[in-house]
Amino acid sequence: MENLHRYLDFDQGLVGRRIFFDQEIYETELERIFARCWLFLGHESQIPERGDYMSAYMGEDPVLVCRGDDGRVRAFLNSCRHRGMKVCRADRGNARQFTCSFHGWTYANSGELKGVPLGEEAYGDRLDKKAWGLLEVPKLAVYGGMIFGNWDAGAESLDEFLGDLRWYLDVMIERQIGGIEFIPGMQRYSLNANWKIASENFAGDTYHLIYSHGSMFRLDIRQINPANPNFRGKEREYYNIGLDNGHGLTGVVFGGERYEVDRELARTYGPEVVEYVEECQQRLIRALPGNQAGMYAPSFSNMFPNLSFNDFSALRPIGFYLWIPKGPCRLEAWNWCGVDRDAPQVIKDEARVDFTRIQSVSGIAAQDDTENFEQVTEATRGVVGQRLDFNYQMNVGQDLLEGPPGCPGRFSPYISETNQLNLYRHWATLMDSPWSGRSHGRRRAAASR
Ligand code: FES
Ligand code: FE
Repeated sequence: MENLHRYLDFDQGLVGRRIFFDQEIYETELERIFARCWLFLGHESQIPERGDYMSAYMGEDPVLVCRGDDGRVRAFLNSCRHRGMKVCRADRGNARQFTCSFHGWTYANSGELKGVPLGEEAYGDRLDKKAWGLLEVPKLAVYGGMIFGNWDAGAESLDEFLGDLRWYLDVMIERQIGGIEFIPGMQRYSLNANWKIASENFAGDTYHLIYSHGSMFRLDIRQINPANPNFRGKEREYYNIGLDNGHGLTGVVFGGERYEVDRELARTYGPEVVEYVEECQQRLIRALPGNQAGMYAPSFSNMFPNLSFNDFSALRPIGFYLWIPKGPCRLEAWNWCGVDRDAPQVIKDEARVDFTRIQSVSGIAAQDDTENFEQVTEATRGVVGQRLDFNYQMNVGQDLLEGPPGCPGRFSPYISETNQLNLYRHWATLMDSPWSGRSHGRRRAAASR
């Protein structure tokens, strides 16, 4: 791996375009980032029953996330141990076992190899079925119902990986009366862009809102509306917050401003929703200390490496956006709409409509964003274009802001580029350090050879 630092100058706020397009850099990312960071697999509400399963990806590796007959959630490489066929080709469902469609090996939903066609005749006693179960993802953990996996058996815990991001996620989680549930179904689309272009957008790019989404803001359908006269002059009350491990939040506001916005909006729906919002708000105030509860919702954020969120309100959808790498210039976006399980049905319905209308495959904002992501790729991937740098100089040399007391992270102005640099710093740290490959899977595969 060539020296990456020739493409990075954090003091000057420069990032070489080549890191978005180079095949070798991409392949190193798959190993040094995607094989050892905690990656989002889905939400518990998608597989509530024993036998429920869903497909996911960890880097480019397809995985199968199953709730076993014992109720435990496990994840496996979705690849038959015989000769590699996907053992499950459905997005989700319920099954006690999975039969490979190539030669018919059958696995239990707990991963064991149960059956082999013509077993005696074909293998005699030469096949040790215990050694040829599905390869299990060695680390799996759940936070607030969100399921994460890690290929690295020696990785830090999920709690350590999330670090201070938990402080912000807890606001989103605690506000829900019945806990977050994902509305059934999802949206998926492919994009000709590098995964980092999308991740950095949610981690820190509030700058693009006014211009890229200017037409949307003129429709006056959002609560956070930089083009709205009510917002003007308030930028300094909104923060971007960079966290360890490359996580970033944007447009975070403290001090309870969003409580009143939600109360006002609730009144337009009627008494049931007014009561619901009041309960959410009181619940948060009881559960969390002042400044934390005062945040109400963490706005836009990106959990390194590739899971973005947005959450503004008890009356809006919680958007989950996963940017799955498919090559240096290709990603698949997987989107889910989260709601409070106990929200009134009218709010769940509104959330689904809002989600579809704004940040989904045909959503008003997503179309602006995806056009940017693809055109950036188109305009910079050529041999000449790749030699230049991207410019993140907006805050170079400026001091960080002091955030409200007790709120963790490195605070910068609402319009800033420090979070993007924070993401690339962490990216560079991981890319500098070879992955030891300490995975349960490797040891197990070696033992069974
Ligand atoms: Fe699955 Fe042969 S590849 S049974
Ligand atoms: Fe955008």
